[in-house]
Amino acid sequence: NSAALRPGLATNVWSYRARVLKGDPASVQVLHGSYLGPTLHVQRGQKLRIDFLNQLDQASNVHWHGLHVPDTMDGHPRFAIGPGERYRYEFEVRNRAGTYWYHPHPHGQTGEQVYFGLAGLLLVSDDEEQVLQLPRGEYDVPIIIQDRSFDDDNQFRYLSGTGPAAAASSAFGARQALGGMMGGGGMMSGGMMTSMMGFFGDTILVNGRSDASLEVARHPYRLRILNGSNSRIYKLAWQDGRPLTVIGTDGGLLERPVHKNYVMLAPAERIELWADFSNDDVGTKITLMSLAFEGSMRGMMGGGMGRMMGTSSMAAGAQFPIFMIEVTRESNGSLELPEQLSKITWLPVEDAVNRTAPRTFRITMGHMQWGFNGRTFEMTAVAPDELVKLNTTEVWEFVNDSGMMAMAHPIHVHDQQFQVLERRNGKGSDDVRDGYVDQGWKDTVLVMPGERVKLLMRFSDYTGLYLYHCHMLEHEDFGLMRNYRIV
Ligand code: C2O
Ligand code: CU
Repeated sequence: NSAALRPGLATNVWSYRARVLKGDPASVQVLHGSYLGPTLHVQRGQKLRIDFLNQLDQASNVHWHGLHVPDTMDGHPRFAIGPGERYRYEFEVRNRAGTYWYHPHPHGQTGEQVYFGLAGLLLVSDDEEQVLQLPRGEYDVPIIIQDRSFDDDNQFRYLSGTGPAAAASSAFGARQALGGMMGGGGMMSGGMMTSMMGFFGDTILVNGRSDASLEVARHPYRLRILNGSNSRIYKLAWQDGRPLTVIGTDGGLLERPVHKNYVMLAPAERIELWADFSNDDVGTKITLMSLAFEGSMRGMMGGGMGRMMGTSSMAAGAQFPIFMIEVTRESNGSLELPEQLSKITWLPVEDAVNRTAPRTFRITMGHMQWGFNGRTFEMTAVAPDELVKLNTTEVWEFVNDSGMMAMAHPIHVHDQQFQVLERRNGKGSDDVRDGYVDQGWKDTVLVMPGERVKLLMRFSDYTGLYLYHCHMLEHEDFGLMRNYRIV
């Protein structure tokens, strides 16, 4: 009940019972209207207390994606709890108003657990947002886009041919099999290939439903879109060619609206749209599309790899409809798109302690293992170049030039909202580069093959061990994740 929430008060919002819906006959349609977790509405400054009870038969935890919290509250895999155990999350919401989300983060099984339903939205509001005339109530619509595949019993299928538990167990096998394949020998199974390349389903679900549609009034809407897919990147556009009006990104509202012909939305990224149907006649139908694009997988296996992932019509980078909007009614009242949405206090780049020599993380593929600078995930290890000082501002540069296995990687840094300082495009980004929305606070940034992206961030309030990783969940589970420590 969001009305009862007040800043500064500890509130027992919700008891989270982790439950994977695979094999459950009641499956997809029933829980909260879908398999997804409940949407939490909170205020900046509010203290949350959430008791997490793990009713899975595997380790799990909760990561509050995008939130700035102490490291013990951040859902690091070293704090995953076993079956039947409890973990109490308690923290103050310090982030700006915006569209955040939560999901599990145990090492090796994040992809599987998110896939089977453990994810939900966490919407933060604050004083600045509340005085703005933005669409509210029925005009403020969350949209979670995910791709899934189904078996003959209409249950989710993860990793074709190898069963739902393959994400963790196949990691070692995949390394051997890929080694064999690249050595000129064997074949990769579906599960092994998924660990390397990511999962691509053949059915698009919006808020847990296939063939989703939304009936709207002739009124402006705030569409808060989360890409909750494990690995699929979307190139969002309205089918009739009208521009997308972007008002927010991962870390909240932009300073002013931005108009785009299309927007790239990689796994874990959020985009908020102002979608105004005031000038559409009742009966108008408008489809939100994902347009075709190239370059998210190239190199070793060429364009053929994209077509091999999922069915041919739903390959990575294919074109397909996401959901349909139908204008069904008049509305009373209207709203004007605000020219000024928020006031952003930018980090001064002059403050960066390593401005001239940024900390560089190169995405690597070596010894059949994803890594940053050649290192794969280790539970508590931190390398010398992964130590940062509290109360400093830094530039981090992510470089995606991993030759043979050139793939897109959405990079997420825990505990941070950062600014995209500079993006150098590569050949792989010609038909996506106009779709980046780099002008707001971000916690996840898409780095296409051949690209280098510089991020500006400040380490404040908390010391401790946090993560940075690729948010293609199969890549993350397969080791494209590292710790960094704030001291
Ligand atoms: Cu949304 Cu480390 O994750
Ligand atoms: Cu990746």
